[in-house]
Amino acid sequence: MTSSQTRPGPRVVLGVGAGIAAYKVCGLLRRFTESGHDVRVVPTEDALRFVGAPTWEALSGHPVSARVWDDVPRVPHVRHGQSADLVFVAPATADLLAKAAHGLADDLLTNTLLTARCPVVFAPAMHTEMWEHPATRANVETLRSRGAIVIDPASGRLTGADTGPGRLPDPEELFEVARHVLARPGKDPHDLAGRHVVVSAGGTREPIDPVRFIGNRSSGLQGYALARTAVARGARVTLVAANVALPDPAGARVVRVGSAEEMREAVLDAVGGADGAEADAVVMAAAVADFRPAGYAGSKIKKVPGAEPEPIRLVKNPDILAELTARRTPGQVIVGFAAETDDVLANGRAKLARKGCDLLVVNQVGEDLAFGRPDNAAVVLGADGSVTDVPRGAKEALAEVVWDLVVARLAPRPAA
Ligand code: CTP
Repeated sequence: MTSSQTRPGPRVVLGVGAGIAAYKVCGLLRRFTESGHDVRVVPTEDALRFVGAPTWEALSGHPVSARVWDDVPRVPHVRHGQSADLVFVAPATADLLAKAAHGLADDLLTNTLLTARCPVVFAPAMHTEMWEHPATRANVETLRSRGAIVIDPASGRLTGADTGPGRLPDPEELFEVARHVLARPGKDPHDLAGRHVVVSAGGTREPIDPVRFIGNRSSGLQGYALARTAVARGARVTLVAANVALPDPAGARVVRVGSAEEMREAVLDAVGGADGAEADAVVMAAAVADFRPAGYAGSKIKKVPGAEPEPIRLVKNPDILAELTARRTPGQVIVGFAAETDDVLANGRAKLARKGCDLLVVNQVGEDLAFGRPDNAAVVLGADGSVTDVPRGAKEALAEVVWDLVVARLAPRPAA
């Protein structure tokens, strides 16, 4: 056997709290193990009422216990935490968040949380009232201030008839957060903690009549990669998505829009702090239509036999990026994207100056370049004259570079 065959994958402790969403965590565990992670499942005693130890043992390939009193000679309450590359807790119940925030250690999972020195991610799931209770809010803030990543729950149908924030995000999206956290060993895993970032994604559609629109080929993949990586670096993320058919990234608040005018309203609201703090950074990854039809036909435009179609007159859309830079608050970092087909660098430099943003991500697009593909290559130009080449690679890799450059430009956090 070669050393690469024997080298173990990243070690993950998967903490499971006593919530019905524990069943979804079986899917998360499978994703971890199928991609080579060595996972120790550490449930709470009550979590085993929802999914039993045999399931966790079969899926992880390791024995499972909730207690510090099993396998005592191997000191599991210290060993699991010390040897982990990541501790991921899902579902994190209100009780578990409270125990973690206050340093209680009355079972194997809470002991592990105190001994872990690796990144720790909590994925809470509970009823809306519990999530919104001031006690839970305070516990989440405490954990975040200590460097834990706490993924905001998704909104939607909860157990029973109620709906609201409190759902555990889908396992694929939770796995993405874990993957991004593990992909940055040695780096500050939460350098966007305490920051609010707004990301736009997708392509706007400018309606002509009830069934037709002028659109573009943007898939939203780059904007979604930016949102996912920002969540994994601890940011509060608002993602304004125009016509994107992708699953919501775990932890991001997604605002869906159609046209450029809707996008303008949603972005300005989010940046101005309509749902909390003003944005520390804005990344306009969306392909916003520069023009829209001057008029909207309230009913479907019909062919008129023997007659040529009426031309569609276009008018200019508001330039959201230019508006953001004109009204930026001190310390806010604003990033634009430029999709160019020719003279990529020269056009990029001119656009950076014209739009007044701090960073401009310039990529070359064409029939088979960038749009809808999982990879991208770009040059990131800074208003300070910096030029950062990002070789062709996953859109996530470009997203990480963008956040590195943003973090370097953010105003220092106010002292706590
Ligand atoms: N953008 C915007 N509002 C618009 C058009 C574009 O906020 N109405 C943003 C895009 O999200 C992107 C950046 O501006 O971040 C560059 O978009 P692009 O369409 O390439 O720039 P234009 O100024 O339209 O330049 P040109 O038409 O010369 O390519």
